[in-house]
Amino acid sequence: MTHILKNDLLLRTARGEQVERPPVWLMRQAGRILPEYRAVRDSLRDFIELVKTPQRVAEVTIQPVDILGVDAAIIFSDILVIPEAMGLPYEMVEKRGPFFPKTIQTAQDIAGLKIADAEADLGYVAEAIRLTKQALAARVPLIGFAGAPFTIFTYMVEGGGSKTFSKARKMMYQAPELCHLLLQKITDSTIAYLQMQAGAGADIIQIFDSWAGILPPEHYSEFSVPYIAQICDAITTVPKTVFAKGAFFARKELGRLNCEVIGLDWTMNPQESRALVGEQKTLQGNLDPCALYGSYDSIRKETRAMLQSFGGQRHIANLGHGVYPDTEPDKVRCFVETVKEWRN
Ligand code: CP3
Repeated sequence: MTHILKNDLLLRTARGEQVERPPVWLMRQAGRILPEYRAVRDSLRDFIELVKTPQRVAEVTIQPVDILGVDAAIIFSDILVIPEAMGLPYEMVEKRGPFFPKTIQTAQDIAGLKIADAEADLGYVAEAIRLTKQALAARVPLIGFAGAPFTIFTYMVEGGGSKTFSKARKMMYQAPELCHLLLQKITDSTIAYLQMQAGAGADIIQIFDSWAGILPPEHYSEFSVPYIAQICDAITTVPKTVFAKGAFFARKELGRLNCEVIGLDWTMNPQESRALVGEQKTLQGNLDPCALYGSYDSIRKETRAMLQSFGGQRHIANLGHGVYPDTEPDKVRCFVETVKEWRN
């Protein structure tokens, strides 16, 4: 089924076409900041139940399009549905974040994990994508996503977030072959999952390598990049975005991936990144999420400076990481409107 999108600015920009202005959306735009999201979330038992209720997922996915005016929707879910589908369930602890009652430490633990069966284990995400596409009525593209294998690995080994990620990093020195076994299982699961998302109607997919910045460059090249590369090579029907937060040292290498878009965090200079990544990719980012705590005037000034420094073409305007939970929706709207007023 092919739809003609009314606003396909994001896809044209991802493909490298000349555009009238950069498209704009925000990482973590669904949930986190909107009172309208809280209302839906509070009507259900918890976060995980919401993620598994396709009708409600469609609703919270579309909220930012209606309320913030962004040029794309991102399917409401979490990167941690992959470990769960592989046999390692998580809990979402209110105000603290994800927690895994069991973690992966040994060869036996890894052998006990399965490669996710996308339709059987994650079919609820495909259903949510189909319902969202219907309800969006082709107004804007829908972004699908998954965590990068390395970021998923850190959650499975650490059992949650961490200040140092020392359990995950230790394993890379003590048992590198086990790391590769686990990373390959995650990668195979993720490929099946993203293929399903594209088949269900996701127009573009993003790979979040949120903890890329904790590794020494050599380990990043060995334990993360090759698995992202496998995913990029396997997903052939939709454009792909790779966002590796903190991996300033890997920009040149990431520029060689078989993907259309590279996401930048706010520490990465746009011109320097362009030189490293090359001319063949679209760049996404990278306003400091804290800029949205400034005055309206300062938000407009910072946003225009960012747009200027990317140069208007081959640029998808976004923040340099997810929008912070206590950001005022009106400040987000100011950011979105400033981008939408820009003319190349
Ligand atoms: O972008 C979107 O708005 C779509 C939905 C989305 C969620 N998580 C919903 C969510 C996306 C794309 C994610 C990705 C995700 N999840 C990442 C990668 C992106 C990034 O920010 O680096 C990571 C590292 C996670 C893991 C995760 N999930 C954490 C650390 C937490 C707790 C704190 C938080 O809010 O980030 C979550 C919970 C979570 N995922 C919430 C939402 C809306 C908040 C929980 C709630 O509503 O109860």
